[in-house]
Amino acid sequence: MSENDLGFVHRFVPAENGSDITLLLLHGTGGNEEDLIPLGKELAPNAAILSPRGKVSEGGAPRFFRRLAEGVFDNEDLVFRTHELAEFVENSSEKYGFDKTKLVAAGYSNGANLAASMMLLHPGLIRAAVLFRSMVPFEPEVKPDLSGIPVFMAAGNRDQMIPPDNTQTLAEMLEGSGAEVELRWRDTGHALTYEEVGEAKEWMAKVLPRFDRV
Ligand code: MLT
Repeated sequence: MSENDLGFVHRFVPAENGSDITLLLLHGTGGNEEDLIPLGKELAPNAAILSPRGKVSEGGAPRFFRRLAEGVFDNEDLVFRTHELAEFVENSSEKYGFDKTKLVAAGYSNGANLAASMMLLHPGLIRAAVLFRSMVPFEPEVKPDLSGIPVFMAAGNRDQMIPPDNTQTLAEMLEGSGAEVELRWRDTGHALTYEEVGEAKEWMAKVLPRFDRV
């Protein structure tokens, strides 16, 4: 059941089998807090899940921040919403008692862009990230320290919404800040494929044991 407190409609699913990881699931435009839960369960079956619904409405379609046009972001709103979501994560960790040093973001499209923004503005908050169909949220004035943060990115070279060179720039930006980026390309469009979910799951299985107890 979705909850409507801590400022965001959201779902929280407790961890199983003693996992320390919490997945922060961030949906795409028009999605909601339920959308990515099956994906989260696939990626990290034992992890807790925190899945908020974006608070911005674009003609009724929930998003995590405003945009002026497709791929043109309202920078002020993006920064505000990123801080707001970071605060929600902090408050959720107190309410639900999860370890916020073991937070793994997994986002699709608009949600992946917000996850990238959170890495740039709150570099200590996200321990690892899976970014499906992501682009540069903004150019940071201060380079964040993302040393040792593993990031899996999956992109489609025929994506009409996310220009491939923009995804490439984001990968370079994160890498230039110290992140360990694994960027995978497929001959596909904006929609996510089963194969990519499988690759992300394999990547998770390699990366999570670095900081999970189970
Ligand atoms: C965005 O606005 O974050 C991007 O255009 C991606 C999207 O919304 O699907």
